[in-house]
Amino acid sequence: MASYHGNLLYYFLCLLFFVCVSNGQSSFKPKGIILPVIKDSSTLQYVTQINQRTPFVPVKLSIHLGGQTLWVDCEQGYVSSTYRSAICGSPECKIAKPNICENCTDNPPRPGCNLNACFNTPENPFINTLYSGGEIAVDALSIQSTDGVNPGPVLKVPNFIFTCVPSFLAEGLASGVKGTAGLGRNDIALPSQLARVFGFPRKFAICLSSSTSSRGVVILGDGPYIMMPNIDISKNLIYTPLLINKVGTGYVPYLNEPSSEYFIGVKAINISGKAVPINKKLLAIDKNGFGGTKISTGKPYTVMQTSIYNAVSKAFAEALANVPKVPPVAPFGTCYSSKRIGSTVVGPAVPSIDLILQTQRVLWRIFGANSMVQVNKDVICLGIVDGGASPMTSIVIGGHQIEDNLLQFDIPNSRLGFSSSLLFSQTTCANFNFTSRA
Ligand SMILES: *[C@@H]1O[C@H](CO)[C@@H](O)[C@H](O)[C@H]1NC(C)=O
Ligand SMILES: *[C@@H]1O[C@H](CO)[C@@H](O)[C@H](O)[C@H]1NC(C)=O
Ligand SMILES: *[C@@H]1O[C@H](CO)[C@@H](O)[C@H](O)[C@H]1NC(C)=O
Repeated sequence: MASYHGNLLYYFLCLLFFVCVSNGQSSFKPKGIILPVIKDSSTLQYVTQINQRTPFVPVKLSIHLGGQTLWVDCEQGYVSSTYRSAICGSPECKIAKPNICENCTDNPPRPGCNLNACFNTPENPFINTLYSGGEIAVDALSIQSTDGVNPGPVLKVPNFIFTCVPSFLAEGLASGVKGTAGLGRNDIALPSQLARVFGFPRKFAICLSSSTSSRGVVILGDGPYIMMPNIDISKNLIYTPLLINKVGTGYVPYLNEPSSEYFIGVKAINISGKAVPINKKLLAIDKNGFGGTKISTGKPYTVMQTSIYNAVSKAFAEALANVPKVPPVAPFGTCYSSKRIGSTVVGPAVPSIDLILQTQRVLWRIFGANSMVQVNKDVICLGIVDGGASPMTSIVIGGHQIEDNLLQFDIPNSRLGFSSSLLFSQTTCANFNFTSRA
């Protein structure tokens, strides 16, 4: 009772003053933090918004699931009285695991160029570009808490650690977007950093809406994860180990750091219950970090190494042999007239694609809503693309394939919990209740 009243009073003070932190230390212990996420219709990036700087300004960021840092363009329009570069050897630099310390000597110093600062290597997965001189910095952040059901008080993080980059790295981001929100497994990425600030577990869930007009959600912290009408998704997850790729992937393979991205152990693929012939060596991660399967919001559609792509496309078309193919629409290769394919509660009625995980009984089953893409009003295509003969990672599960599925990344226990399509449970990722409790 006492703590309930305490929370109410606290919430009231927060609303009044918009300041929920005293002495830099939050006194309110949220269960979690929410980021509302909207899919950008032209780039298909998943975009969220935070408030940063002093005074606070809204900053739009594209979600980068395996990204190692929150980076923003601070070459243009970065104005803040609380920006501070991290000093070489400071705790902030240690958490960020910088690659270099340097004296950047622009006079006067500016965000991104300061004396005795540390720098890391942020990447933009949408244009396959990295930059090795991103200044590690701290500034104020404000972000909304949640109890897993509704939004709660807005909380301030006075010393949030992020990376300040020049404008060129922000090329290719959705309109108005100034950076990326990295949700990787390393220490400065949002899940671990906010877990440390607020004292919740290093776990988070991502639930992306397939619609470009209704918001999905990222919930940092442990469950519950409740979608309307009052369905606790955290109760019905299937688990598979998250694998660590000891070699950096993404675009920073040379830093001698394990990858911050999320890999799972796909052992085989079945379509309509039949095995797809795949070179199993490609499914394992080799000692140089090549091969394996990762999940990335840096790609709108699943990307497969050429031989896997060909085998999956062929097996899919064979399983759907009663429906003739139509000329393909790039970037896809296997397309059908939408009139010839029925519909189900989980999307177009097509053969299911099973990613077989640690045993034959642990499956990630992909149904029509996640396998097929409506490319125009008459044509739907199998939503996978050819990744070339020798990509670093053999299978990259992209955004379309995880929409309306809730995925929980549990970093300390190194496991992924996944819900399969929420459409079966009569809900979607657009059903988080963003109305605050009165
Ligand atoms: C930066 O310059 C200061 C003063 O000259 C020096 O003490 C320090 O070692 C330099 N730092 C780096 C990283 O070179
Ligand atoms: C996958 O296919 C293989 C061979 O066709 C079969 O033995 C196995 O039971 C299938 N597994 C599932 C989960 O469908
Ligand atoms: C959403 O949350 C608000 C605040 O708790 C509540 O009043 C409302 O009934 C909820 N909406 C639904 C559809 O559950």
